[in-house]
Amino acid sequence: MLSSVPAAAGFLAGADLSANAIERARRASSGYLDLTSGNPTRHGLIFPPQVLRTAAEPYWATRRYDPDPLGLPAAREAITRYYLGRIPPLRLQPDQVVITASTSEAYSLLFTLLADPGDNLLAPDVTYPLFEHLAAAHHVALRTYRLDESRGWQIDEASLLAQADSRTRAVLIVSPHNPTGMIVQRPVVALDQLGLPVICDEVFADFTYRAPHTPPFATLHPALPVFTLNGISKMFALPDLKLGWIAMNAPAAAMFGARLEILNDLYLGANSLTQAMLPALFANSAEFTAAMRRRIRASLDMALAMLAGCPVLRAQPPDGGYYLFAHVQSWDDEEALVLHLLERGVLVHPGFFYGCEDGAHLLISCLVEPEMLKRGIEIIIQALTPG
Ligand SMILES: Cc1ncc(COP(=O)(O)O)c(C=O)c1O
Repeated sequence: MLSSVPAAAGFLAGADLSANAIERARRASSGYLDLTSGNPTRHGLIFPPQVLRTAAEPYWATRRYDPDPLGLPAAREAITRYYLGRIPPLRLQPDQVVITASTSEAYSLLFTLLADPGDNLLAPDVTYPLFEHLAAAHHVALRTYRLDESRGWQIDEASLLAQADSRTRAVLIVSPHNPTGMIVQRPVVALDQLGLPVICDEVFADFTYRAPHTPPFATLHPALPVFTLNGISKMFALPDLKLGWIAMNAPAAAMFGARLEILNDLYLGANSLTQAMLPALFANSAEFTAAMRRRIRASLDMALAMLAGCPVLRAQPPDGGYYLFAHVQSWDDEEALVLHLLERGVLVHPGFFYGCEDGAHLLISCLVEPEMLKRGIEIIIQALTPG
């Protein structure tokens, strides 16, 4: 029988999924230094196995499937204690926290919660590539607001206001931002004018560089419904243990909490073992996370000092996060630039992977193992220095 399934229906149907020129060149290359990786487990940042074993141990003795649609109470309490320790502290009740399998899943739940097909969300225009596909999966449009490179990639409030229309349902903010490292440190007047719910991704909050700390976005806008996203994949370098969360401030919980609880109950995506471990992970991770932060800061120091010697490349010290998003002055064609660097043995991402179309930019991850980072940057400087 002939299938009656239309060829161009569903997620990414009709999209060109063939590898782009950079990906084709990467596949054909070997032995290059990959300066794009954000995966801590590949670069020697390994959460202490003994802490994981000890944290998991009590689970086996009392193991019983007893799910809570918001996530296990002890895990949610541990998350509220974490927010009390942020600067300034954010006070939350455990029932304002919803545990998910990851931050990415948290986004997906919130897109479903807040928007109908055909609605739109506002997202930064240099942006984390996940948003585009998530929006497509939910049949919502992304309308982009500008980040202003000349002001340390701060939010351009006029473009935020101009992008909103009657079908805009929420604003996406990433602070510290991926890839620019910008941290929102003051209230954004335009957000109060819009009055829309805000989804603020703070997965890099504990990794500050130029800024002394990352104020929880919900403390800057207590009157707006704010959904704060975070998880253990960056915070504890545990992307494989799959645990994220949504922390609702009081307005978000009052307006959306009951519906979000039902939505999370549909999937119960977070596994019980990791949830059971979470209080012990918070309690026994300080030494590891301090060492990880020191290493990332030292790598950013080193990379910035080295890149300052390259006349055609301008790398601003980020407020936070672990990426450098550097501007390259003498090139217009980012694809040619990245291919040129790959031929010389180093892989970086072009700005257009992040939707940046203003001049040539390169993303360099300072999470990569420091010796490899140093060698990679030496190659970049040599390849870009004229003469
Ligand atoms: C800004 C940002 N948010 C979320 C994530 C994904 O987090 P999770 O592993 O919890 O889905 C990433 C991963 O790179 C990220 O860069």
